[in-house]
Amino acid sequence: MIYPYTYETHPFDLIGYDGCSYPYAISIHDFEPITGRIHMPPPIHQQFQGNNFVICSFVPRMYDYHPEAVPAPYHHSNIDSDELLYYVDGDFMSRNNIQQGQITLHPGGLTHGPHPGAIERSIGKKETNELAVMIDPFNPVQITKAALEIEIPNYYKSWQIQS
Ligand SMILES: [Fe+2]
Repeated sequence: MIYPYTYETHPFDLIGYDGCSYPYAISIHDFEPITGRIHMPPPIHQQFQGNNFVICSFVPRMYDYHPEAVPAPYHHSNIDSDELLYYVDGDFMSRNNIQQGQITLHPGGLTHGPHPGAIERSIGKKETNELAVMIDPFNPVQITKAALEIEIPNYYKSWQIQS
């Protein structure tokens, strides 16, 4: 049973903030994206939306279930936003050599998609256990010096087919 709880004042209308008054709290494990027979567009993963950003959650789910479906996403470029992806857990089907804890940044307008071999690898797969969070900011991401120090400089070459 759900009971209403009414505050006397707005929870943001305060001077001191102890870090415990969150506007929303939801576990990523409670997020259920829409799935379909054919590949669904990225907004099915969208969990939050702000003025100049969206947050998408990639969670364990059934893959596209048409007999001839190709579960890997298609190559694309975001015109309006950068794409910052944090790989939390599981096997990231569309990427080669991405490990838990890594973050990728695909600047707006830069075409990207599955790594070589990932499309073929995805065919026939029924489900994923991946867990990742994506932020699409509509203003360009500013890179800190600390981030540049841990950058994998050859990441952009990871789409090249190895011979
Ligand atoms: Fe993307």
